[in-house]
Order: sequence, then structure tokens, then C-alpha cells
Amino acid sequence: MKKQLIIFSLLSFIQFVSSQHKELQLHFRKGVCLKSDNVASNSTYSKNIVFLFSNLTSLSSTSKFSTFSAGSGRDQVNGLYLCRPDLSPESCHKCISTSANDLLVNCANKKEAIQWYDECMFRYTNRSIFSTEEIEPWTSAFDTFFNVSQPQVFPTLLNRTMQGLIAEAVSPKNNLRFATGHANFTVFEGLYGMVLCTHDITGKECEDCLRTALEGLGNYTANSTYQNNLKTLLEYAAGHASHSLFGNRSVDTGMENVNMIYNCRSDLNLQECHQCIQLSALRIVTQCPVQKEAIFWHQECMLRYSPRTIFSFEDDESFSVWHLSQANVSDPLQYSEVVATTIDGLIEEAAYNQSKRGYAIGEGNVTGLVQGGKVYCYVQCTPDILGSRCERCLRAAFRSMAGCCGTNKQSVQFHYPSCQTGYSAQPFVLGSDPLQVSPPVQPGSSVPPPPPPPRIGN
Ligand SMILES: *[C@@H]1O[C@H](CO)[C@@H](O)[C@H](O)[C@H]1NC(C)=O
Ligand SMILES: *[C@@H]1O[C@H](CO)[C@@H](O)[C@H](O)[C@H]1NC(C)=O
Ligand SMILES: *[C@@H]1O[C@H](CO)[C@@H](O)[C@H](O)[C@H]1NC(C)=O
Ligand SMILES: *[C@@H]1O[C@H](CO)[C@@H](O)[C@H](O)[C@H]1NC(C)=O
Ligand SMILES: *[C@@H]1O[C@H](CO)[C@@H](O)[C@H](O)[C@H]1NC(C)=O
Ligand SMILES: *[C@@H]1O[C@H](CO)[C@@H](O)[C@H](O)[C@H]1NC(C)=O
Ligand SMILES: *[C@@H]1O[C@H](CO)[C@@H](O)[C@H](O)[C@H]1NC(C)=O
Ligand SMILES: *[C@@H]1O[C@H](CO)[C@@H](O)[C@H](O)[C@H]1NC(C)=O
Ligand SMILES: *[C@@H]1O[C@H](CO)[C@@H](O)[C@H](O)[C@H]1NC(C)=O
Ligand SMILES: *[C@@H]1O[C@H](CO)[C@@H](O)[C@H](O)[C@H]1NC(C)=O
Ligand SMILES: *[C@@H]1O[C@H](CO)[C@@H](O)[C@H](O)[C@H]1NC(C)=O
Ligand SMILES: *[C@@H]1O[C@H](CO)[C@@H](O)[C@H](O)[C@H]1NC(C)=O
Repeated sequence: MKKQLIIFSLLSFIQFVSSQHKELQLHFRKGVCLKSDNVASNSTYSKNIVFLFSNLTSLSSTSKFSTFSAGSGRDQVNGLYLCRPDLSPESCHKCISTSANDLLVNCANKKEAIQWYDECMFRYTNRSIFSTEEIEPWTSAFDTFFNVSQPQVFPTLLNRTMQGLIAEAVSPKNNLRFATGHANFTVFEGLYGMVLCTHDITGKECEDCLRTALEGLGNYTANSTYQNNLKTLLEYAAGHASHSLFGNRSVDTGMENVNMIYNCRSDLNLQECHQCIQLSALRIVTQCPVQKEAIFWHQECMLRYSPRTIFSFEDDESFSVWHLSQANVSDPLQYSEVVATTIDGLIEEAAYNQSKRGYAIGEGNVTGLVQGGKVYCYVQCTPDILGSRCERCLRAAFRSMAGCCGTNKQSVQFHYPSCQTGYSAQPFVLGSDPLQVSPPVQPGSSVPPPPPPPRIGN
């Protein structure tokens, strides 16, 4: 594919700051020296790179978009830059000269490189890239927490808003190929969108490119580096789980970083953990074949990957819950209280007793419970957030569990990416049961649970 993403498709709850009349703060995204041949520092190609940078930098004080070629034949270097059209000429110049300097320092011995700031993009290569629609390489940026109040409604609004902006940017009247917009979401939340294409492609090409980018916000493509990296990590996870109940690893190949984390419940043995993670790794690619980010919960283990850094984050933005019918108790109020008190004690233990490694189980005595007279509780954090962050996560999980499902059920489990809690009138967490690897929703559960398929972030 002759492709390179020359657009910015940034979404944020923070309004895009128009930098006009302000001291420009550059926001670096990504600089990449592409995997290509090295260039000798005294070669003609290298001299042409210097000419190219110098020419493009001087053009940037009068123009928001320029292309330039230096040299000819095998030594020809082609380059272009694009500034956001709402930057002042000084800001555009500053952004491009900063980019050019960065690339000279970091990539001068490479045939091709590209650099993105939020405010501008700068690129050079020996290939012919002018007037072609390119969607590779690409980069993406995420806000760490993406917490919308109505996650079901938001994607539709997002799609509608961005489709509108695309239509505006590709309209024949719009020679900047640029559009920004704002949509009201709730009283407190807004959605701000922006689209931009380079000026050297047609409206049709710009439209295709932007639509691909919009789809790509959450998806990876077949045979991509991302997919390969993910595959490597999932294989690693399955193998590592036969030595350790917790694992994390990143693959950083420059462009398409993937981070993986898994955690098994501490009462599992290694063979069970291995089984659970292996099964999760298979299911996660079947159920989330293109998603850049996914999380999979079984009752016994959790597996998650993301292009974002997910280690040591106390993360409560996505969740899954699994619960059963009312417990058959004569005094539901007392049952609820015992659940709350027991879990409260466990939270302290799991978070602050180092030797617990984030996992604690306990039982409370209940009067009038038909079976057994006990309620069994557990809490667990991933071992990368022990301490106050573990406590915070578990308290949030308990509140959410109580909110969604109550504390008077036969059995409830509530999972966040970084922690989970649950209780049951049967000793389901005490390691006495043979491993039942089962998805969070159990067929035949008498209360229809809220949808807990693996949730895709962002
Ligand atoms: C570049 O420098 C190397 C050694 O420093 C020399 O062998 C080579 O001939 C030079 N090439 C050119 C094109 O000047
Ligand atoms: C632009 O590039 C040419 C070579 O292609 C070079 O001779 C000229 O000095 C450059 N101009 C500037 C302003 O750098
Ligand atoms: C660009 O450089 C690469 C790597 O050296 C080479 O394979 C390719 O043929 C070059 N392309 C052109 C158009 O010169
Ligand atoms: C997400 O929103 C909920 C309620 O609106 C809030 O309680 C929670 O703290 C938020 N989480 C983050 C990570 O901002
Ligand atoms: C987004 O909107 C377009 C046109 O308005 C529609 O064709 C497309 O299916 C929508 N995509 C999603 C994911 O809703
Ligand atoms: C969003 O709400 C503000 C204030 O309530 C209003 O002025 C504005 O017109 C609304 N914008 C859109 C796109 O509906
Ligand atoms: C990603 O891929 C899915 C499944 O093919 C598709 O439905 C969706 O529209 C794509 N885009 C995003 C942003 O998820
Ligand atoms: C991915 O690679 C496989 C095998 O190399 C090939 O059969 C398939 O067509 C490729 N798919 C895409 C979308 O390139
Ligand atoms: C609850 O327990 C009573 C007494 O054992 C029994 O008759 C009743 O069927 C049970 N109800 C449920 C829903 O299990
Ligand atoms: C921490 O846990 C260990 C083993 O589970 C236990 O022996 C010890 O008493 C606990 N420490 C505290 C301070 O509770
Ligand atoms: C529950 O009852 C048993 C037996 O009566 C007793 O040993 C245990 O301490 C009680 N547990 C709690 C948490 O009260
Ligand atoms: C995995 O987690 C540990 C903390 O438990 C952390 O020290 C380590 O840096 C993480 N690994 C990676 C690859 O981030």
C-alpha cells in the first residue's frame, strides 16, 4: 500500500486551542526514522536532505503547506510539511523548524523519516509522495481516561460529528481541506473534532483518507505490525502464565506499540492459570479480531492489551459484572451488612499486607442462610498497583458492585481492569472448586446480567 496518514484526527474534551496570538506550545506526538537504508553523512543524498530542510523551513514562514524536491535521480529527496491552517505564520514556522531540527538530530542518517506534532507534520523520503493518498505510516494518540457519562450514545454522536466535518473538509469550496466543529453531548461534556488533509490530494482522496482514519481510530489492519506485535505478546502471555500468575510486557517497534497485562486469581495453581490465559488469548482474537484495545475477563483470570500504557494504572473505566439471583436468606439486611464489613476488611488486607500480593479472601457468618450460614468474599488487585491505588480501585469496585447488583445476591463478581471483588453464598473463590473457565456471563444465570462482553476502550 502506498499510504501515509497526513491527517490529524484529534478528539478531545479539551477544546483545540487556536494558537493565534498566543505563544505557541508545541505538542510532540511521534517522530519516526523509518526502517530504510542508512545514508552516509558525506553523500549527495545527505546534502540534499539539508537543502530540502532549509528550503521547506523558509517556505513555512509564508505557507501552511509546501512540497519540495532536492536533487535528482537516485539522490532525489522529496519532502513536505503541513501546518494546521489556524496557526499563525510564526507558529507554523516555529513548528516546522523545530521538526526539521529534531529530524536532523535523530534521523539524518536515514533515507526516510516523518514527524508529527499536534500542530504540524513534516516528512521526507526518496519515494514520490506528492499528490498521492497515503495512509501509512500512521500514529494515534489517546487520552488516558476516556470517561463519558453515556458510553452507548457517544459513538453515534462521534460518528455523526466527524462525518459532518469530513463532508465540510472535502467540499470543493474548502481549499484548506480543514474543518473543526463542536457538538453538545451532555450539559457538562462537549465533543470537539478536527479533520485536515494535505492540500495536494483531491477531495475524493481526502474523503477516503479521512474515512479510513476514522475507522482506524479503534482498529488495526490485517498483517500490520500491530497485529504481529499483539500475536507475539499473546503467545508470551500463555507461556509465561505457566510460571507466574501475573505478567506484563510491551512490544515497542517504534510505531505500533502494544502493551499486555494478565492476572490470574491468586488461588489458582500455575497449570490452571496457564489454561485460563491460553484460552483467553484464543478467545480475545476471535471476539476482537481488529480492535486495538481489548480486555477479557474470566472468573479466574483477566487478559488485556492496549496501545496505551496500562501498567501500574489504576484503571476503572471499563468493567464486567457477573451475578446470580437473590440469596435465599431470611434477613437480607444482615447478609448485606456482613458482605460489606467482610469486604471492607479484605480491602485493607489486600492493599497493604505485602505478603498478600493484592489478594484476600474471607468469610462472614450469616444467620438464616439456608445453605451453609456463610458468605464468602474476595478482593484482588493486579500486583502492579499495590497500596493506596489498590485500595482506591477496590473501593470503587465495591461501590459499583453494590450500585449495579446489590449486596444481597447469591453470588456477584465485579471486575475492573486493575481490580475485582466478589462474594458468594457458595465457597466459589476458596480454591476448592475445580477450575471452571467460563466467560463472565454464565448461561442460565437467572438475572439477566448487564452486557459484559470484552469492552473495547476508546
Ligand atoms: C565519504 O567518506 C568516506 C570516508 O569518510 C570516503 O571513503 C568516501 O569516499 C566519501 N564519499 C563521498 C561521496 O565523498
Ligand atoms: C533550496 O535548495 C537548493 C537545492 O535544491 C539550494 O541550492 C538552495 O540554497 C536552497 N535554498 C535555501 C533557502 O536553503
Ligand atoms: C528508495 O530507497 C530504497 C532503499 O534504499 C530503494 O529500495 C528504493 O528503490 C528507492 N526508491 C526510489 C524511488 O529511488
Ligand atoms: C468516571 O466517571 C464516574 C462518574 O461520572 C466517576 O465516578 C469516576 O471517578 C470517573 N473515572 C475517572 C477515571 O475519571
Ligand atoms: C457513521 O455514519 C455513516 C454515515 O453517516 C454511516 O454510513 C456509518 O455506518 C456510521 N458508522 C458507524 C460505526 O456508526
Ligand atoms: C451547545 O450548547 C450551547 C450552550 O448551551 C449553545 O450555545 C450551542 O449553540 C450548542 N451547540 C450546538 C452545536 O448545538
Ligand atoms: C472497526 O472494525 C469494526 C468491525 O469490523 C467495525 O464495525 C467498526 O466500524 C470499525 N471502526 C471502529 C472505529 O471501531
Ligand atoms: C495477510 O497475509 C496472508 C498470508 O501472508 C495473506 O494470505 C493475506 O492475503 C494477507 N491479508 C491482507 C489483508 O493483506
Ligand atoms: C429458599 O429456601 C426455602 C426453605 O428451604 C425453600 O423452600 C425455597 O424453595 C428456597 N427458594 C429458592 C428460590 O431457592
Ligand atoms: C499479613 O499476611 C500474612 C500472611 O497472610 C499474615 O501472616 C500476617 O499476619 C499479615 N500481617 C498483618 C499485619 O496483618
Ligand atoms: C463465624 O462463626 C465461627 C463459628 O461460630 C467463628 O469461629 C468465627 O469467628 C465467626 N466469624 C466471624 C467473622 O464472625
Ligand atoms: C510490569 O509490572 C511491574 C510491576 O509489577 C513493573 O515494575 C514493570 O516495569 C512492568 N513491566 C513493563 C514491561 O512495563
